[in-house]
Amino acid sequence: MGSLRALLVLGAFFHHLKSVRASIETNVTVDDQAPSNNSVLVYMPPMVWNEGAGCDFCSAKPNESFAFDGTWHDAAYNPGDSTAEISISFTGTAIYTFFIVPDMNSQTTNLNFTLDGVPAGSFQHPLGNRTQFLYNVSTFGRAGLENAAHSLIITSGGNTSSLLLFDYLVYTYVSSWFAINCP
Ligand SMILES: *[C@@H]1O[C@H](CO)[C@@H](O)[C@H](O)[C@H]1NC(C)=O
Ligand SMILES: *[C@@H]1O[C@H](CO)[C@@H](O)[C@H](O)[C@H]1NC(C)=O
Ligand SMILES: *[C@@H]1O[C@H](CO)[C@@H](O)[C@H](O)[C@H]1NC(C)=O
Ligand SMILES: *[C@@H]1O[C@H](CO)[C@@H](O)[C@H](O)[C@H]1NC(C)=O
Ligand SMILES: *[C@@H]1O[C@H](CO)[C@@H](O)[C@H](O)[C@H]1NC(C)=O
Ligand SMILES: *[C@@H]1O[C@H](CO)[C@@H](O)[C@H](O)[C@H]1NC(C)=O
Ligand SMILES: *[C@@H]1O[C@H](CO)[C@@H](O)[C@H](O)[C@H]1NC(C)=O
Repeated sequence: MGSLRALLVLGAFFHHLKSVRASIETNVTVDDQAPSNNSVLVYMPPMVWNEGAGCDFCSAKPNESFAFDGTWHDAAYNPGDSTAEISISFTGTAIYTFFIVPDMNSQTTNLNFTLDGVPAGSFQHPLGNRTQFLYNVSTFGRAGLENAAHSLIITSGGNTSSLLLFDYLVYTYVSSWFAINCP
């Protein structure tokens, strides 16, 4: 009798425990300057990428005060060059990438995205009439991923020239815990 009662109490306890399990989704921002916020960024080939803010020889001169954390990574791709690439590792359920994009008649941005080894999308900004930069431009977003480690690879290759100004990414991190709610 005593042990049955104990089991029933234990069962009620675990039932109760389950009901207070919580999971919280948090968006984490990762600046272009790796490593930060538990995400890993690798720029390839390393010599074509420059820290854009304060870069005297870079042709693109966006206004630092509009960039996240005042920084971005700059690469120019021309047909025949090695493919310019950013490789991102993160653990979570969603990812969003943001670039500074030229809205000009001379330069544009073309990107391909590969998520966990599978082509996942592309971004093209058409040539514009103006001579300005667009900030916080969303170039890729994917939610509803399994809460696990993922890799996102951003590439620019092929036969179109591209100016790449990578500013930051956001990913969604999930944390969960048990809380024992004593009556
Ligand atoms: C995270 O940011 C994305 C993009 O801005 C937004 O759509 C999403 O709702 C945000 N998620 C959370 C949990 O704040
Ligand atoms: C880390 O993420 C937080 C929350 O989004 C953000 O405020 C902070 O600037 C990020 N740190 C870096 C170095 O990107
Ligand atoms: C950058 O933007 C800020 C805020 O609008 C402005 O005060 C500053 O003059 C700009 N800098 C340049 C170099 O245009
Ligand atoms: C872009 O977003 C960052 C971070 O949210 C913000 O600090 C900055 O002012 C924004 N820039 C523009 C031009 O909206
Ligand atoms: C450039 O400006 C002209 C005239 O304002 C407009 O008709 C055309 O659509 C614009 N082209 C682009 C690429 O924005
Ligand atoms: C994107 O991928 C397609 C298909 O492989 C390719 O034709 C195109 O050149 C790529 N674009 C860029 C900017 O790398
Ligand atoms: C280059 O682009 C042109 C026109 O967009 C296309 O017809 C051609 O197949 C491309 N060549 C290669 C090698 O991708």
